[in-house]
Amino acid sequence: MPRGGPAGERAGGDSDGLGVEPGTVLDGFRDLGFTTTYIGRTVHYLRTVGSTSSELKALAREGAAAGTVVLADEQTGGRGRSGRTWFSPVRLGVWMSILLQCELPAERLAPLSIAAAVSVADALRELTGLDVRVKWPNDLLVGSRKLGGLLVESIQTAGKNVLSAVLGIGLNVNLTESDLPAELAGIATSLRSALGHPVPRLDVLRVMLLALERCFERYEREGIAGFRERWEELSSTLGREVTVAPGRPLAGDAERIATGTVTGLAESGALILEDASGAIHEIWFGDITLRRADKRGTDDD
Ligand code: BTN
Repeated sequence: MPRGGPAGERAGGDSDGLGVEPGTVLDGFRDLGFTTTYIGRTVHYLRTVGSTSSELKALAREGAAAGTVVLADEQTGGRGRSGRTWFSPVRLGVWMSILLQCELPAERLAPLSIAAAVSVADALRELTGLDVRVKWPNDLLVGSRKLGGLLVESIQTAGKNVLSAVLGIGLNVNLTESDLPAELAGIATSLRSALGHPVPRLDVLRVMLLALERCFERYEREGIAGFRERWEELSSTLGREVTVAPGRPLAGDAERIATGTVTGLAESGALILEDASGAIHEIWFGDITLRRADKRGTDDD
């Protein structure tokens, strides 16, 4: 498979290909220079797809191996949390899904995705020097803007203690403000916007996959306990007053789930909130926003 020059030599931006033609099944080690041991050995690299996660689920049903990656230059039906769509324009981000198989019970899936978000945040911090943070459950932020998100979906498996899942990651790499649709203006950001220069997608891809492979190994050994301290350090909301709303758009205050101060992360992956009366709530789903009184000069909405 022909390769482009080292990723650092590429300019990034609109022409930011991976040095290989889309539409092929790649050996990620040989063709893309991955330094992982099994994640990304097989990469289905597509020019355009509805959703990389849907594509990978279909491949999993046909017997794809653990660690298989589906990566696309563009998604036309990218899916986000709570049934939202995920904006995935051509070559401006990393839109990919990874097939996971671990010897873990199904209830360990939610905390695994939190561990994965922490690991990706750290990898991006090291690569770019940006202050990438995590927002429960699986958002990656720079400042108050969303840089990326993770979406974990389980797959039906025969074994009781074998967790089979598709981890989808969307990371805005070289989007600029002018690429964003109106509804994402002021809400989303990208590495390029935050740094002021483009970043080769392949560099981003390599560090993320390596970080995720290490994350999965560690998570199997230590569970969320191995990541909690770092989650606290990188959390954009720990110690802050937040409102939790259902994932769908709010119709009014009546649809609030809870309001309180974020005090930590439960073993289950739930967010722990303490309300004004001192009662402790475990939040299992929803979107959190900083309360107006606790925005401390940020532009968070
Ligand atoms: C979120 O809502 O924050 C999660 C977004 C996850 C988007 C990624 S892009 C690659 C993969 N394929 C999808 O359809 N969704 C995920």
